[in-house]
Amino acid sequence: MILDIKDFVDTYYVERKNTNSTKWDLLEERFGDPDLLPIWVADMEFKAPDSVISALTERVQHGAYGYSFIPDAYYNTYSNWMEDSFGYKVEKEWCRPATGVVSALYWFMNCYTEEGDAVIITPPVYYPFFNVIRDLDRTLVTADMTENDGRFELDFDLFEQKIEENDVKLFILCSPHNPAGRVWTESELERMLAICEKHDVLVIADEIHQDFAYGEHKHTPAPLVADGKYTDRIVLVNAASKSFNLPGLLHANIVIENDALRKQFDDYAGQHIKSEKNILGHLATQAAYEGGGEWLEGLKNVILSNYAYVRETLGVHIPEAKVMKLEGTYLPMIDLRGFLAPEDTKEFVQEKCRLAVDYGEWFGEGYEGYIRLNLATHPKFVKEAVDRMVEEYKKMK
Ligand SMILES: Cc1ncc(COP(=O)(O)O)c(C=O)c1O
Repeated sequence: MILDIKDFVDTYYVERKNTNSTKWDLLEERFGDPDLLPIWVADMEFKAPDSVISALTERVQHGAYGYSFIPDAYYNTYSNWMEDSFGYKVEKEWCRPATGVVSALYWFMNCYTEEGDAVIITPPVYYPFFNVIRDLDRTLVTADMTENDGRFELDFDLFEQKIEENDVKLFILCSPHNPAGRVWTESELERMLAICEKHDVLVIADEIHQDFAYGEHKHTPAPLVADGKYTDRIVLVNAASKSFNLPGLLHANIVIENDALRKQFDDYAGQHIKSEKNILGHLATQAAYEGGGEWLEGLKNVILSNYAYVRETLGVHIPEAKVMKLEGTYLPMIDLRGFLAPEDTKEFVQEKCRLAVDYGEWFGEGYEGYIRLNLATHPKFVKEAVDRMVEEYKKMK
């Protein structure tokens, strides 16, 4: 049964403060102030689906936490989820486990590129994409998106020009896109992938937000685009962690259909990736895909209702604040530049409203004045955050 919003929140809301939560308990370290209302980082105040809690409880009660392997049942469940959700039939042979999506990005960068190689990303984009390129001494190339009526779009000419000019070797595709909130259409994906093919660019598809696409927006896994025409240049990574609030369990899925790319990865892994599997991570992922479908639908309704509150309330009370469209993810950006100088954003958000948010400049140069909110939370926090913004805005006027 899909719970309605109130029942979902009543059933799954859980306090996170004083639980070693990065979101709640590292505010002093990250923002210099322990008393902010945290509405940042993609991490929720909801318990995982019951199926996950029971599977973990049973395993924890068993009491022995020895080395584990990922059973065939895991791959069947994962493949069923991918097929039922997106029509993508994933074969076990294509899959490799990872201890997280960001870890996998570091592995791919080392495995498929050399120092100095140019790597392209599309800001505003998830900040670890910048880090992986810089940390590993690759050359950062950006093709910034263009905002059109609250919707970020890729400028395909710029994308191709940047690839050509810089002899780009690898593209990190974020699909759905965080923080743009875009669910790429298949034709947009096809245009990106065709450009990558033309210039022989390898594509890392980070599809961790795959399960959040709303209304008519449908997520298409990159390997399915144009009936699989570009599959041979795609390395896919996704996880149940964003969808079911499991990121602390460190488990993600790598899918590489192309034999040569997979062999290259296996050779790299043979030398560099020696960690064992986290038994609780793959168990929780399997349980989420097996029994978490209705929970996820309930959660999505909470997110959409929170989003409607933000949009409607700001629309009425702070009409100069522009809330970006939310086609996917649970992390909309808001452009505050209509009433604030970009350099005053932090003072307004943090000192006046007492909120901890992700700031636009974390996602790329030129996005000062935007903030990103995390709406996968109790509506009371969203209301509190928005109401504080409205109150402080009124004081300014
Ligand atoms: C696009 C994207 N990739 C990766 C991650 C994090 O993945 P992991 O926790 O598995 O490293 C996030 C988290 O918000 C994300 O938005």
